[in-house]
Amino acid sequence: MLFLLLGAGARQVRMPPMLILGIESSCDETGIALYSPDAGGLLLAHALHSQILMHREYGGVVPELASRDHIRRAVPLLRKVMRDSGHSLTELAAVAYTQGPGLAGALLVGAAFAEGLAASLGIPTVPVHHLEGHLLSPLLSRTPPCFPFIALLVSGGHSQLMRVTGVGEYQLLGETLDDAAGEAFDKTAKLLGLPYPGGPALAELAEHGQPDTVKLPRPMLHSGDLDFSFSGLKTAVLTKVREMGNLDEQQRANIARGFQDAIIDVLVSKSMHAVRQSGLKRLVVAGGVGANRELRRQLNAQAARLGISVFYPELEFCTDNGAMIALAGALRFQAGCSIKPAGAFAVRPRWPLAELTG
Ligand code: KG4
Ligand code: ZN
Repeated sequence: MLFLLLGAGARQVRMPPMLILGIESSCDETGIALYSPDAGGLLLAHALHSQILMHREYGGVVPELASRDHIRRAVPLLRKVMRDSGHSLTELAAVAYTQGPGLAGALLVGAAFAEGLAASLGIPTVPVHHLEGHLLSPLLSRTPPCFPFIALLVSGGHSQLMRVTGVGEYQLLGETLDDAAGEAFDKTAKLLGLPYPGGPALAELAEHGQPDTVKLPRPMLHSGDLDFSFSGLKTAVLTKVREMGNLDEQQRANIARGFQDAIIDVLVSKSMHAVRQSGLKRLVVAGGVGANRELRRQLNAQAARLGISVFYPELEFCTDNGAMIALAGALRFQAGCSIKPAGAFAVRPRWPLAELTG
């Protein structure tokens, strides 16, 4: 609870905290969280349901199943968050939710749920850009970065380097020309017979691989710009797999290691290039691939050499979650932007992050 000291009499008046609910439903995770931006910000409660096991038997996300599952999970997760936080719905100041980008049906579920809830409570909504949630997620950690910083945003659908000057101030420096880093992890994992989602499974297999036994290209490493391209790497793995024929466990691990080393080399090199070019000393890494342990090790080592600080979200907030949407929504609400009356809404399955600036 927050206290406000009034006048010389020092009478303490209890001010209710500003509470923002956040709802994430852009893909295969339903996340709900309650966040207060007061007094430096506090995450009061959060809950998540991952649909990974449901989609696994199909080898990837089935959009219609994802939408239906979001519908099933929303109310129980909301109840849990409110119970865990000790607050009631009537105390909410606004409901933030992911407006895009993502799967249209999945977004519609979260948006309709958020808009309906806010309308019933007579409070506004804050539609949030999913990638802004990822970008700002390190602010939820115990040692948050200050603005400005360079951000490496590596998720299942996006790979971008951005210059982040403040909330809503994002300059795109470079991005993937084809597959995103997470997508490359997932597709390569599939080639190696690993279960969905492939990224974490491939990373685990790579830990058992021997370095430098499978050499793969480093696409665009020396392109001089900050763009990426990962689809050729996946094709190179396919060629290797065909060449090598029946793979034993060690060979699969070696290929996984070769792939991971290649992708990490490119991500680390381009991130350092972006930081050096900007003259800034802070790098933020966000999105699902940011959970990769080897990527973190390599980034930390390079950054230490260059005197750069690297900031990551807590591991549980690397992949999709409601906390980052509550946080981004709260910061926007506090700044008085993106707020709208509850009711009519539209989702934005395709929505470039750079459109947020200005
Ligand atoms: O940010 P995110 O949850 O979803 C999007 O917004 O796209 O990222 C999911 C992506 C998936 O491609 C997943 O395989 C990848 O992040 N990922 C990883 C790891 N954990 C998740 N990739 C590599 N290593 C990991 N440890
Ligand atoms: Zn995401």
